[in-house]
Amino acid sequence: MAHDGYDDNAVVLKHSLSTRIFHWGLILGFLPAALTGIIIWLKPGSEDLVGLAMKIHIVGAWILSISCVYFFLFCYKRVVVFWRTAFNWTADDIKWMSVSGGYPHKIFLGKTIPVPPMGKMNSGQKMLGIMVFFGTLVVIVSGWLLYAFLPMVPKEIAHYADLLHLFVGLFLTLAIICGHIVLSVYNWSECVCMFGDGTMKVSEAAHHNELWVKNEIEPVKK
Ligand code: HEM
Repeated sequence: MAHDGYDDNAVVLKHSLSTRIFHWGLILGFLPAALTGIIIWLKPGSEDLVGLAMKIHIVGAWILSISCVYFFLFCYKRVVVFWRTAFNWTADDIKWMSVSGGYPHKIFLGKTIPVPPMGKMNSGQKMLGIMVFFGTLVVIVSGWLLYAFLPMVPKEIAHYADLLHLFVGLFLTLAIICGHIVLSVYNWSECVCMFGDGTMKVSEAAHHNELWVKNEIEPVKK
């Protein structure tokens, strides 16, 4: 028996198909839009390059917007669960954040320090989830305002929408590329789970998501 009555090969569904499809939408929409957004902002090359970047930016914006509308309309129960989890903070989350989940010790000093047990999302993921939720909303609304409704928008509002779009977009890009993607690849089994069939071994899940395994999942009766 590997963990709490589960055998060594027991697996648990961590990410449902709808979540995995939505995550692909975030990747195929957000990442191209973010990278081309930087080209449009810094204009490092010819007008043709910036023009091409703008076209890719709009395609990325469409994919991102459609993915978010799909998830919010058709998977609203998952959105509710996400809200409940991401906004439920306890003293353990503060402790976890104060040592950044022990990652700097592990990565830079090769040391393992004790960290509080986590549920399905750890405190860093809750923080990222909240930032992505509100940040993406701001980026999508301000982007559509600037792209599709510019002639109808007063100049001052367009100016602030432009600033918000740039700074919130840049902030999210840095958080996702330097934080989320790096840590996801570092925790490779999480990547295999999210980009595979959504399942992972219970024994592995118990390592990162101890409280979730203990309190929220149960064996399927045969
Ligand atoms: C190549 C790029 C990406 C990789 C490798 C990646 C990887 C992952 C993985 C492995 C998880 C599951 C983590 C777990 O269950 O412990 C996850 C969740 C998540 N991802 Fe990504 N992701 C990428 C891009 C993005 C982008 C572009 C966004 C948002 C715009 C995003 C937002 C999220 C959110 C909100 C979650 C749920 C919270 C969390 O578990 O961290 N991801 N991602």
